[in-house]
Amino acid sequence: MANGPNQHDPTEVPSTAVPSYRFSVAPMLDYTDRHFRVLMRQVTRRSLLYSEMVVAQAIHHCDKPGQQDRLERLLGFDPIEKPLALQLGGDDPGLLAAAARLAAAWGYDEVNFNVGCPSEKVQKGRFGACLMAEPARVADCIAAMAAASGLPVSVKHRIGIDDRDSYAELLHFVDTVAAAGACRFSVHARKAWLEGLDPKQNRSVPPLRYELVHQLKQERPQLQVELNGGLGDLAACQLQLELVDAVMVGRAAYSHPLRWAPVDRDLFGDGASPLAHASSVVRGLVPYAQRWCEAGGRLWPIARHLVQVVEGVSGARHWRRRLGEAAGARGAGAIVLERAAQELEAQGL
Ligand SMILES: Cc1cc2nc3c(=O)[nH]c(=O)nc-3n(C[C@H](O)[C@H](O)[C@H](O)COP(=O)(O)O)c2cc1C
Repeated sequence: MANGPNQHDPTEVPSTAVPSYRFSVAPMLDYTDRHFRVLMRQVTRRSLLYSEMVVAQAIHHCDKPGQQDRLERLLGFDPIEKPLALQLGGDDPGLLAAAARLAAAWGYDEVNFNVGCPSEKVQKGRFGACLMAEPARVADCIAAMAAASGLPVSVKHRIGIDDRDSYAELLHFVDTVAAAGACRFSVHARKAWLEGLDPKQNRSVPPLRYELVHQLKQERPQLQVELNGGLGDLAACQLQLELVDAVMVGRAAYSHPLRWAPVDRDLFGDGASPLAHASSVVRGLVPYAQRWCEAGGRLWPIARHLVQVVEGVSGARHWRRRLGEAAGARGAGAIVLERAAQELEAQGL
């Protein structure tokens, strides 16, 4: 199911008219893979989806003859996932520019730069959240990616790192990066402790400080500001949307995909499609699963994400077990999902 690079010349694409998205599903390594993104597309057509973080250096290693399978694993997606942003990690403007050029050639809608990841491995590479201490370098990276790709380039960052967590430092970071042309600031509204906390703790221990993100939007109204962190339901998002341009949801989107079924209607004003429910999500995946399996892919990597679709439903445990056994079997195909959808439908789900 390779899509590979498309035919358009990225240099011909003007980087104007950046679409604004009020809702997005956050990039999450090992979770927001291509299969989960197709699942989320059964729930919301309008939201912006992000890839997992892909390191520019890894793309560079695979962008050579004989490595096309590996490149496909890093960049491949199904057109149904669009609008889709490729999140890149790195600190070398040249490598990031080359990766962004490929993003355009492969048909991504946007490039996002990761300045929020605090993991030890990422810190060793001197990128992710530690780049918040180097706004000028981030600006160089953004400018290089935008020039090479012609795509809108956004940045995902924290409100600060370690003791560099004042509003003035945040504003200096944003102003420096905005001057390089970043199209959106997706702000995880807690700082990261680079030493002493692991990535998981860094997503819960430092307190959320939404007020700093609100202040940022208030003082820089011309910038697109997206708030991220701790948003658990639509009502919480709607509250924030009174103060910022957009909201980004991570863990609550993965754990409760159906909770977000009203997003297109309530946040994008698009009431044309019926709201997703459990069986419609599973059935919606069937044609995709068929293409995937026919191209030699296994069903399980798709089915594994369906666990949360029956969250809170009576008999969910049995449904999950049956699905797990059938989808994990050798040679399992899309028919497994069709049957699983029928079972849910029979229960009115
Ligand atoms: C398992 C997991 C993996 C993550 N991977 C990434 C990543 O690849 N890139 C990134 O910018 N953020 C990553 N994040 C952080 C999320 O994008 C988000 O900023 C964070 O979870 C806070 O939002 P939430 O409270 O809505 O989950 C990850 C989070 C989780 C839970």
